[in-house]
Amino acid sequence: MGLDKCKIVELPKIMDRRGNLTFIEGNDHVPFDIKRVYYLYDVPGGEKRGGHAHKALQQFIVAASGSFDVVLDDGNDQKRFHLNRSYYGLYIPTMIWRELDNFSSGSVCIVLASEHYDENDYIRDYKELENKVGSNDKK
Ligand code: TYD
Repeated sequence: MGLDKCKIVELPKIMDRRGNLTFIEGNDHVPFDIKRVYYLYDVPGGEKRGGHAHKALQQFIVAASGSFDVVLDDGNDQKRFHLNRSYYGLYIPTMIWRELDNFSSGSVCIVLASEHYDENDYIRDYKELENKVGSNDKK
């Protein structure tokens, strides 16, 4: 279902002996206008982030440095993505539960978001997501 829409996107990589450059444009590499950018850094070893879904928010996640895993769940199925290159990103549509773990030391997770921050857009209870998407497998 929703998991089919989650996808890894390869970004442009301008190689240069001075160092590489990657860029991301809204409505091109990501299928939304970028309204907000935030980043996770100094994540202690073994720590997890996320643990929620969003009603209207779409996101695009890049491991700008280091690596980590993103576990996505549409209320029925789960898929784990490993991000470890600055020129790949993971697109996450609405109504997908996400958890980020397995952060390498010094990793930086950049998140591009389609909306400004709004706590009312969060679904922080997994059961609520299951009810909203009509899960086949009520736990
Ligand atoms: P949260 O989205 O729960 O973090 P994560 O999903 O990365 O684990 O946000 C953590 C806290 O930061 C929460 O109190 C809300 C606040 N916050 C903002 O104020 N603005 C933002 O853009 C984001 C993403 C979070």
